[in-house]
Amino acid sequence: MEIKLDRQYLKGYIEDKDYTQLLPEIQEAHDNLEKKTGKGAEFTGWLDLPHRIKDSFLDELVELGEEIRANSDCLLSIGIGGSYVGIHASLEFLIAEQKLPVHYAGHNLSSGYLYHLLKRLEDKDVTVVVISKSGTTTEPALAFRIVKKFMEEKYTSAELKKRIICITDAERGALRTIADKEGYRSFSINNDVGGRFSIMTPAGLVPLAIAGIDIKALIQGARKAQMYCSKMDLKKNIAYQYAAARSILYRQNKTIEVLSTFYQRLSYVEEWWKQLFGESEGKDGKGIFPTSLSFTTDLHSMGQLIQEGARNMFETFLLVDRTGHGVVIPSDNENLDNFNCVAGQDLDYVNRQAHKATAKAHYDGGVPNMTITIPHFDAHSLGQLYYFFEKAVAIKGYLLGVNPFDQPGVEAYKTNMFDLLGRE
Ligand code: PA5
Repeated sequence: MEIKLDRQYLKGYIEDKDYTQLLPEIQEAHDNLEKKTGKGAEFTGWLDLPHRIKDSFLDELVELGEEIRANSDCLLSIGIGGSYVGIHASLEFLIAEQKLPVHYAGHNLSSGYLYHLLKRLEDKDVTVVVISKSGTTTEPALAFRIVKKFMEEKYTSAELKKRIICITDAERGALRTIADKEGYRSFSINNDVGGRFSIMTPAGLVPLAIAGIDIKALIQGARKAQMYCSKMDLKKNIAYQYAAARSILYRQNKTIEVLSTFYQRLSYVEEWWKQLFGESEGKDGKGIFPTSLSFTTDLHSMGQLIQEGARNMFETFLLVDRTGHGVVIPSDNENLDNFNCVAGQDLDYVNRQAHKATAKAHYDGGVPNMTITIPHFDAHSLGQLYYFFEKAVAIKGYLLGVNPFDQPGVEAYKTNMFDLLGRE
């Protein structure tokens, strides 16, 4: 496993004996997950998904991507929650690999957003991917209605059959009915994998393949993580170490976790992480509140609160090991700003010192913290990271005593909204 977890700044909050004490609970969580005897076991298909995905299927998607890129100026990806955020996270993280511009719709209800987006796409050749596991979610359903009309005014029905791709349940839901009736291309989302765990199902892989991402490397990375994160060995399994540390801190009333990064390209990975952890843990009156910050920008705003505010939080830094872009700081004869001390260094060197300085300062200020480091901004590293977090949240959910794989609370606002809209 190439991901590293540094726990030096947990000292004083978590000692070896705390991990030892938690071991029987971790063993139970591990057994329940692996033997599928725990809560929500019917949605644990993601556990061995990386190894179950067939290489021939990945080849098929790579070919589909090539075909679509040859006749499209852009991809419009419609979806929300687990049918959106992982795609956006992957594409932002892998921006250097992306071969086709991707726009998003159906992740909000803003008419201004959709109006301006469709205006921009008027003279472009567009392929649309609409993703909804249930096939009934309001935001993507309404966006697709509007986009479908936009596409119908642009293309013949034969062309639409190639340019609209539906990704949904194999049998159920309105989107499946529409796809079958209109004869659109379609893919099915595995029914044993929940939305926020679905980045390695067609819900994530199809749009990523169309965008030109190396989906084979992504899956290879996840396969590697699957191997390393499935062992019941707290000394080696860093997903279990992360879950255990979070659990112990939560029991010390550290109820907020801040995921802090030093790279813009991780800002949607932070969003993906928030959904994964927030939806999986936040139920039955329990759960750590996951939030995120982008440093060093936020050190000049939220940094004050972290350093000296209420001591109810811990922090997890997310770093990337090899990042330098050759942006070298020049030497200056006059040295008026006194920064010749870093002349000749890559700017990224300073960013790394900022991480070290911040981790120590926050620890000294009473915020225990850990650092997760991934090797590179590439698909292989991202696949490892996704699986690592999925495994960690599943174990943590079981340690918390909740079902980490459902999201009953998401329904409450929908019921109210349907009442207001007069929808049955
Ligand atoms: O994790 C989840 O299940 C949710 O966040 C869903 O992904 C989200 O509500 C979108 O659902 P659907 O894909 O059914 O449209």
